[in-house]
Amino acid sequence: MNVGILGTGHYVPEKVLTNKELEQMVDTTDEWIRTRTGIEERRIASEEIDSSDMAYFAAKTALENAQVSANDIDLILVATVTPDTPFPSVACKIQEKLQCTNAAAMDVSAACAGFMYGLITGQQFIQTGTYQHVLVVGVEKLSKITDWSDRNTCVLFGDGAGAVVLGEVSDGKGILSFELGADGSGGKHLYQDENDHIIMNGREVFKFAVRQMPESSVHVIDKLGYNKGDVDYLIPHQANIRIMNAARERLGISEDKMATTIKKYGNNSSASIPMALSESVNTGKIKDDDLVVLVGFGGGLTWGAVAIRWGK
Ligand code: UT7
Repeated sequence: MNVGILGTGHYVPEKVLTNKELEQMVDTTDEWIRTRTGIEERRIASEEIDSSDMAYFAAKTALENAQVSANDIDLILVATVTPDTPFPSVACKIQEKLQCTNAAAMDVSAACAGFMYGLITGQQFIQTGTYQHVLVVGVEKLSKITDWSDRNTCVLFGDGAGAVVLGEVSDGKGILSFELGADGSGGKHLYQDENDHIIMNGREVFKFAVRQMPESSVHVIDKLGYNKGDVDYLIPHQANIRIMNAARERLGISEDKMATTIKKYGNNSSASIPMALSESVNTGKIKDDDLVVLVGFGGGLTWGAVAIRWGK
């Protein structure tokens, strides 16, 4: 059984927060943010919009694009570290909104690698013949756990959601290989504190990421016996353009073959990869038969990579 992506969708809030505006809030400059991270602006959800609302919008589009009806979804997996509430899960909330009456539902917590964990969990259920269609969503309202007085973190994050519908695809297509990993000893470098704020040792996370992202990207290609140059498109977690470029350079591919939504959306944790994937599909950057690599890392520490032969 070959399992692949039947449709994608994403949602971003309307409100744009620019680097210039951040200059008024903390001791930073547009120049510092651009050159150190590649971020120019990010989106911030309004008070009334919570994670489940953004997840719903992205999921609805993914279902439409996949041409799969809500009733045909067997499982909903939502990767998030910013659920509306610890329970009920965001997955249960969108199960009701979408009216996926036959679906089981749960949230997955693996920070910025959460979507990769969700994607592979969903794939396994289909590959074993247990389920036919799984909806996987990555969503974050990071603005509600951002310390807006901490320049080390507040310039980095943004809100948004991305979603995919998984199902059976034809021979040779779909998810070909994956790698998931975790190292709890690095948890101290990136976590949510007792005030519910994101605390990060940027330098330590950076060191881990520039090693892990390129390594995992190469591992999933090696497992298939492909060469690095065979990769047609790379969708890295949008954490920092310098980290993303490290993965891209290791794969030996040019800049135009990498999704870079970080400029306008910043780092959206679990939502970064599915948002960038959905945009890349919409803009025609990913074509039928392309070998696409998705790769992420995050708090935990966690990481994950997937190689996909695009198409149904
Ligand atoms: O999704 C996963 C989560 N996070 C990440 O992937 C982040 C990984 N880390 C990074 O992307 C980078 O480490 C950062 C972008 C966070 C920081 O860049 P850096 O090149 O590693 O800078 P640094 O931490 O070495 O800091 C350099 C200087 C420091 O000043 P001193 O100590 O040298 O005087 C910081 O205090 O830059 C200062 N700094 C800032 N200056 C202006 C830190 N944040 C800012 C800021 N504006 N916003």
